[in-house]
Amino acid sequence: MKSQDVRKQFLDFFQSKGHLIVPSAPIVLKDDPTLMFNNSGMAQFKEYFLGNGTPKSPRIADTQKCLRVSGKHNDLEEVGIDTYHHTMFEMLGNWSFGDYFKKEAINWAWELLTEVYKIDKDILYVTVFEGSEEENVPFDQEAYDIWKTLISEDRILLGNKKDNFWEMGDQGPCGPCSEIHVDIRSAEEKALVPGKDLVNNDHPHVVEIWNNVFMEFNRKADGSLEKLPAQHVDTGMGFERLCMVLQNVQSNYDTDVFTPIIREIESITKTKYHIKATNEAEDKVNIAIRVIADHVRAVAFAIADGQLPSNTGAGYVIRRILRRAIRYGFTFLDTKEPFIYKLVETLSTQMGGSFPEIKSQKELCANVIREEENSFLRTLDQGLVLLENIITTSTDKVISGKKAFELYDTYGFPIDLTALILSEKGLKLDEAGFESELQKQKERSRAASKVKAGDWQILIDDEDEEFIGYDRTEAMVKITRYRKVESAKDGEIYQIVFNMTPFYPEGGGQVGDKGYFEASNGDVIYIIDTKKENNVIIHFAKELPNNLTETFKAFVDVSTRKSSASNHSATHLMHQALRSILGTHVEQKGSLVSPKHLRFDFSHFSKVTDEELQQVEDFVNARIQEQLPLIERRSVPFEQAVQEGAMALFGEKYGDHVRAIKFGDSMELCGGIHVNNTADIWYFKIVSEGAVASGIRRIEAITSGAVKEYFASQAEKLKEINAVLKNAQDPIKAVVSLQDENAKLKKQLEALLKDKAKNMKGDLAKELQEINGVQFLAKQVDLSPEGAKDLVYELGNLGTNLFLLLATAEGGKPMLTCYISKELVADKKLNAGQVVRELGKYIQGGGGGQPFFATAGGKNADGIPEALAKAIDYVK
Ligand code: SER
Repeated sequence: MKSQDVRKQFLDFFQSKGHLIVPSAPIVLKDDPTLMFNNSGMAQFKEYFLGNGTPKSPRIADTQKCLRVSGKHNDLEEVGIDTYHHTMFEMLGNWSFGDYFKKEAINWAWELLTEVYKIDKDILYVTVFEGSEEENVPFDQEAYDIWKTLISEDRILLGNKKDNFWEMGDQGPCGPCSEIHVDIRSAEEKALVPGKDLVNNDHPHVVEIWNNVFMEFNRKADGSLEKLPAQHVDTGMGFERLCMVLQNVQSNYDTDVFTPIIREIESITKTKYHIKATNEAEDKVNIAIRVIADHVRAVAFAIADGQLPSNTGAGYVIRRILRRAIRYGFTFLDTKEPFIYKLVETLSTQMGGSFPEIKSQKELCANVIREEENSFLRTLDQGLVLLENIITTSTDKVISGKKAFELYDTYGFPIDLTALILSEKGLKLDEAGFESELQKQKERSRAASKVKAGDWQILIDDEDEEFIGYDRTEAMVKITRYRKVESAKDGEIYQIVFNMTPFYPEGGGQVGDKGYFEASNGDVIYIIDTKKENNVIIHFAKELPNNLTETFKAFVDVSTRKSSASNHSATHLMHQALRSILGTHVEQKGSLVSPKHLRFDFSHFSKVTDEELQQVEDFVNARIQEQLPLIERRSVPFEQAVQEGAMALFGEKYGDHVRAIKFGDSMELCGGIHVNNTADIWYFKIVSEGAVASGIRRIEAITSGAVKEYFASQAEKLKEINAVLKNAQDPIKAVVSLQDENAKLKKQLEALLKDKAKNMKGDLAKELQEINGVQFLAKQVDLSPEGAKDLVYELGNLGTNLFLLLATAEGGKPMLTCYISKELVADKKLNAGQVVRELGKYIQGGGGGQPFFATAGGKNADGIPEALAKAIDYVK
């Protein structure tokens, strides 16, 4: 059965059982501070389990793109080493939200596996929660009894809290689960060890395929459990593992989910993937190919959903995954040029049917990946040189863990590569030292990112926490719930929820509203930010009012809100301008709208020229002058809005009904705050344009008050420049003439310095010391590095057996220049390259050159005297 059919039969089956089929949510999560990526099918439904919203249907099924590379569920280091873990995988799932429970879930799972997919019952095992005294949760008798009607009792195994109690995070909905495992070993292997001994034991051919979670509890901040008001079912089946079973192969990578990519890797890298590796070399190639085949999927899908590789947060996780793939290719497939980006084409052909985003964005994905490959391959090259340096300067056979950590932390050089290179040279890495540095760093970042969230204190059980901020900026509100959150970053913060709120929560790029609310006694509590979490609008405050239960008057800070609105509407107009001036390949890739400015990232493959930028500015300013009124429709059916030409973004989750914002011909789906008329924007000014990644440009711009300030400060600067130029009649001409004069003076100075070096020659020649038959000189001179070079050559011509070391510190930058006469190089094996490399450490630098002439630059000019003092050791 082809993987596409496996997917389809799952969805058809649950549709026939009354489930609504929904598309996969984006892989990158936007409004959940506890998760970076979708790590399970249920993540997009969390709000329903928490009771913060009502699902479209009490029964839903889908296939969800998942990424388990951070947080509570992290499989990254296993991936590729074994044949059944992945970074990105598809999770087939069916859900009941307060509807059916264990009986239906278990019976349907069994029916699908054994009657639709026709999996032999004799290769299946199931597990049931054995109960936990500590948690005060009993053995799951109900699930056991249901299974008993379907499968022989010796195939029902009991599992502990680790395997059979599912939790999505440290807090939140959770419950006992029942897993289904397959045993796909050969008959001989089965005869030797019974399958039930291998369940949950990391055997590649006895693996879990489906988890049925029965959500009954909520885990509170203090670790205790409380019963949820309604019972839910959350199931997740590993699509790739299911394909392995149905396609009768022994590894996920031998299914048609992976084979096209693997064939492509083989052909590009001229290597071979062995279904059964017979020696260590083959195994290493296999692992590398699996790592790359897996990782390219995770990275490409994340990019298609809007997450570019970067140095922080989710972007950093993506960068690390890609770097792991590059590094495996580099070491085990000998790939020294970018190639992973080429796999995107195959991936899009293969997955584009079910996931159109990968098809329409393949060019962007490939570009970004290629650029990352280029830059990391350069890092690897640099790292190799640095490591070589560490090796040559070390007198020990064991290389310090601290140095290896520096290489890893500062340069991103993989530690396993360091260990490998060292062992090839018969050296050892001080692993304990490295581990301890790593732990120290982890501690530091853990302490910095530690967040302690208290339980919600419910004052009013009101689910209707309505947003009224499109129409109003003030309202009478009541607190429905609040909690205290402590973090190293923000200290103690209260999160407050109102029964209704005029405060706009951060979203769609626009920052959250600030403001305050006032108690009847006149006390004022400031709201420093507003955000949405699992569909609830949360207000952040440093303190709570004394009386929590009264009615408050809440005020949004109107002036910052107005500036944000102006920047947001200008963003829409600029988006339209970019698409009409640069072309419709322009797609939004990131947006920040704050009261101060707007920042917009978009796909475009070359620099936006000054002329184009001017056109964009003119376009937007023309729309401002046309005084276009805002046409806002709060609830348009999604399909209709798209048909009318509204832009929908990849990686965004839209409901069935959407809000459409229109100014003239610009129409976007958007939940943000906008001006009532484009005239309110006053003026639009681009302040910068640049690259964020390959194929992604960034424009920053300002509007309204900020433009006025900008022009005023430009005028002020011009005035100051004029004053400095003594109010020259033509300031530009004055600057040009200064530049010309400067160039002329520079030339004269160079000539003078050359003369000075010549004069110095005579003086220095007198300072030569004879040591062991060598004419030795080590001295700091007041010259440029160029001058020092000329000087040593000049001195070198004076005689034989010379060892000269000059130090310079022009502009505070230390530099060593070493010259050694040919005879000394030949007879005494002295080497100027080695001398500057070794002495270079005193000035915190390095360098090299040839045996008779070499230079080293550094960072610490204070080290010059010591470097010069040590030079004598070479001739002694
Ligand atoms: N949430 C469960 C899991 O991820 C079942 O979907 O395994």
